[in-house]
Amino acid sequence: MSHGRASFGSKIGMILATAGGAVGLGNVWRFPYMTGENGGAAFILVYLCCVFVLGIPCMISEFIIGRHGSANTYRAFAKLSPRGSWKLVGLMGVLTGYLITGYYAVVSGWCLQYVYASVMGELKGNPDYVLHYFQSFSSNPIRPVFWTVAILLLAHFIIIHGIRGGIEKASKLLMPTLFILLLVIVGASLLLPNAGKGVEFLLKPDFGRVDRNVFLGALGQSFYSLSIAMGCMCTYASYYSRSVNLLNSSLQIAAIDTFVAILAGLMIFPAAFSVGVNPGSGPSLIFITLPNVFNQAFSGMPMVGWLVSLMFYTLLALAALTSLMSLHEVSTAFIYEELHISRKRGAVMVTVTTCIIGAFCSLSLGAVDFLSFGGKSLFDWFDFVTGQIFLPVGGLLTCLFLGWFVPRQIVRDEFTNWGTVSRRFFGLYLFLVRYFCPLAILAILLHQFSVI
Ligand code: PFF
Repeated sequence: MSHGRASFGSKIGMILATAGGAVGLGNVWRFPYMTGENGGAAFILVYLCCVFVLGIPCMISEFIIGRHGSANTYRAFAKLSPRGSWKLVGLMGVLTGYLITGYYAVVSGWCLQYVYASVMGELKGNPDYVLHYFQSFSSNPIRPVFWTVAILLLAHFIIIHGIRGGIEKASKLLMPTLFILLLVIVGASLLLPNAGKGVEFLLKPDFGRVDRNVFLGALGQSFYSLSIAMGCMCTYASYYSRSVNLLNSSLQIAAIDTFVAILAGLMIFPAAFSVGVNPGSGPSLIFITLPNVFNQAFSGMPMVGWLVSLMFYTLLALAALTSLMSLHEVSTAFIYEELHISRKRGAVMVTVTTCIIGAFCSLSLGAVDFLSFGGKSLFDWFDFVTGQIFLPVGGLLTCLFLGWFVPRQIVRDEFTNWGTVSRRFFGLYLFLVRYFCPLAILAILLHQFSVI
């Protein structure tokens, strides 16, 4: 079966789709907490530097490989290294995206359950009740699996409609909805009594806090938040036209991603400080702390509390869904192009198998014992292997490939759109990808294993 290569139909659609891939749960549960704990506005400045010197160069590299290859991530790497083994790096990107799809769908499914629970008013109660609600739900053998399958089916439904009719159309609807919800909740949060304390916690610059650990944490977060090294950026770029300015697009996508992350902080901290709760991070922040915060902060206005909770979990589900779509597309494009089958059949294979992975990951969180080993649940193993090993190793190898092995002319042509846009930053970009990014990623990797 032959495939005419699809492409995004508009610039705004392409930016929103790619930004949708980047904006995800990491923006809401990781970035705000890191900012508050690590020096507020000082951390944001450090983070911005990391985005410029690591995130954006890595993103542009994936864009170059993807657009040049005009194929799935594996094939795109293969086209640039016909005889070499670099295509294995592409394969690793596809595998990383695939494995992440399975376990990311579990947490994305929890967001759907919490949308449902908000509608039904099931999250109302004292802190013990809210804690128990989450624990009994996440360790239930059926309900979380049901929601995992549900959100994967939603992603599937979008993916089978192709790039323009599926991913682009959905992103044009979902992303603006996400922005509106975010702004409304930020407004509601800032209007609460004592909201200023939360804003101060988030934004007051404290440069004394910024040490080597904070710096390495910010580097890692810029990588994670921009969905680097999991095939998403490369796959989406394979649908970019030759007129897309890769540098400008990467700047716009990174700006949207960072803006959402900062607004997420302005949504969470003022509300949490208003009721005197110290927010943690990770799943417990969004599924245990925040329902309590909403219950307490809006206790005098139950309808407003109900609405804020509903809007918040809808926003989370949208952020998760757009990321899940981008992850799903990585494996779908790989399977249907490599096996020469239809997009629909490729998508079915990905959906069915990731539902199985997701179900096992979900069951490992308390429903059954045999899915935990080595002191970790299967879910945590997926998180650990992909996040701590595959992402940095894949990112490192991608930079080395692009910086040292891909013919310079190809890189320059893609960066400058064949000489039609400015090449002013090309030298800087090349320097970062050849020297700085590999060293920075190596430092993140070693830091994760406490070597430095
Ligand atoms: N960049 C997205 C987020 O911040 O949630 C998507 C994502 C990143 C998913 C990293 C999974 C992951 F390991």
